[in-house]
Amino acid sequence: MSTQIISGRDIAEEIRGELTERVAALKAESGIVPGLATVLVGSDPASEMYVGMKNKAAAAMGIHSRQITLPAATTESELLGVVDGLNADPAVHGILVQLPLPNHIDEGKIIEAIDPSKDVDGFHPVSVGRLATDSGEFFAPCTPAGVVEMLVRSGNDPNGKHVVVVGRSNIVGRPLASLLLRKGAGGNATVTVAHSRTPDLGAVTRTADILVVAMGRPEMITADMVRPGTVVIDVGTNRVDDPTREKGYRVCGDVLFDEVKEVASAISPVPGGVGPMTITMLLANTVKSAALASGSKV
Ligand code: GUN
Repeated sequence: MSTQIISGRDIAEEIRGELTERVAALKAESGIVPGLATVLVGSDPASEMYVGMKNKAAAAMGIHSRQITLPAATTESELLGVVDGLNADPAVHGILVQLPLPNHIDEGKIIEAIDPSKDVDGFHPVSVGRLATDSGEFFAPCTPAGVVEMLVRSGNDPNGKHVVVVGRSNIVGRPLASLLLRKGAGGNATVTVAHSRTPDLGAVTRTADILVVAMGRPEMITADMVRPGTVVIDVGTNRVDDPTREKGYRVCGDVLFDEVKEVASAISPVPGGVGPMTITMLLANTVKSAALASGSKV
């Protein structure tokens, strides 16, 4: 049996096509153009690149994007002032403050200052609480929401399955477990969360029907840790030294792909797996926010 390769790149493109149509319909129905504001403090090259990619993807589907770039010396109260201004701006439906912030700024304070109805990152404690209690309107964090979309759209619905999530971060592992536990579409899974301190990790990962790995450790998951027939989603993006490459490094996931693809029934690659889904789900949240603000059916 050949292994199914779950391409996040293809699924992201499919969703972006749907979103582009939704943006056009919103504009035609109610004259609303979804607006995303990204805030970048300082000039970290990786953050600059990510924010640039987010704005470019937004513009490509007709979302209005505004990038606010502030100097690294911006004070916490100045940044809070910027967030307040965006909270009050009706043309802005989604606010993303790129992390990490400089050390002198309390990230938690900034995240809590964002209006939860514009929290398209899903990091505000109100969003986290609503997700955890499966209640009210909220935005799911983009990477875990992308993982669920990949599973459902590739024909590997987590409904009724035992999903082992390896990783307990606030950005991926914990919210992913909450999403998978929800009643309804994309949920109804039985979920185990394991992590770097789990004794005999392989004994746990081998019990999975679906294994999602978000540990941030290059190629940690080897074939002996995966039961034949498992669906494997690799959230890791790691740079490892590779003198055979022109750049001197290669990008790999948390799963030893070449080995694990021989036992898995389906597997997502790195790059081209979860990565492209994250920005797409940010745009989906922005469109949802605009639709909610306009009173249109989402
Ligand atoms: N930095 C790295 N990833 C993210 C993300 O998804 N959202 C924000 N705000 N900052 C990030």
